Amino acid sequence: MNLLTNQTAGVTGAGSGIGRAIALALAGAGARVAVSDMNEASARSVAAEIQAAGGEAMAHHLDVTDQEAAQAVVAAIADRWGRLDIWCNNAGVSTMNRFVDLTADEWDFNMNVNVKGAFLCSQVVVRQMMAQEPDARGLRGRIINTASMAGKRGNAPFLAHYVASKFAVVGLTQAVAGELAPLGILVNAVCPGYVRTSMQTRELQWEAELRGVAAEEVADLYVQDTPLGRLETPEDVAGVVLFLASSLSNFVTGEAINVNGGAWMD
Ligand SMILES: NC(=O)c1ccc[n+]([C@@H]2O[C@H](COP(=O)([O-])OP(=O)(O)OC[C@H]3O[C@@H](n4cnc5c(N)ncnc54)[C@H](O)[C@@H]3O)[C@@H](O)[C@H]2O)c1
Repeated sequence: MNLLTNQTAGVTGAGSGIGRAIALALAGAGARVAVSDMNEASARSVAAEIQAAGGEAMAHHLDVTDQEAAQAVVAAIADRWGRLDIWCNNAGVSTMNRFVDLTADEWDFNMNVNVKGAFLCSQVVVRQMMAQEPDARGLRGRIINTASMAGKRGNAPFLAHYVASKFAVVGLTQAVAGELAPLGILVNAVCPGYVRTSMQTRELQWEAELRGVAAEEVADLYVQDTPLGRLETPEDVAGVVLFLASSLSNFVTGEAINVNGGAWMD
């Protein structure tokens, strides 16, 4: 189903994991996709995957904490494709530590990439979308943030700083959605659970060390905490992002949709 024919999209942190799956899903639905990542080689490789499958893609180096660089990516999309319909603030980082040992550097790192990055990128995206003509339904564009189950459930050991950053992403989603609704810009978020990506591989190792158990044991705890009984895949997340990116969700804004196999239902 070509849900996104004639649509253009940008995805941050799209060189691996969830961002890669989002970029491939949007392209698979017919969108032209600007794949960006701090790791430029990985962005290029995902753009090449899209092109090899017959889609249209560009690759950019983008550190989401650099607003000038984000502006350049948005300008490149507008120059080449004339319009930016969908922007996914997906880039994110995590570290793990006991709260008493948490450093200000760890706090800043998580906050800067996860929240400030979404703010800085969204601002330049919104300026572009505001300048665009609305479509037949009065919509100028859509922003989709990758928040987390940790943006709704505080009980996540060793992740106080990450939890704070993701609660902030959910708050930002709601506040910006309310402000931009009259302009026809939809702003939503997805809240994944325990997703098998390189971030999870790192977290399994850190959590295992902090708990004094094996990484496999921690992975088992993640599965036990998930009623659907398995770890989540990046594609599980991308399907819901595709819904939010498409005209199937024209009247949805300010939502932070759980995509976590039932691990958290609020
Ligand atoms: N893996 C999970 O279990 C999980 C669960 C909930 C939410 N999330 C969120 O999903 C998003 C993607 O995570 P993932 O699991 O795919 O992780 P990942 O580490 O596999 O991928 C993250 C990507 O973001 C890029 N990146 C990191 N810092 C960046 C920056 N400053 N600017 C641009 N790109 C940057 C990395 O190079 C990498 O390609 C993150 O926002 C994360 O917080 C992940």
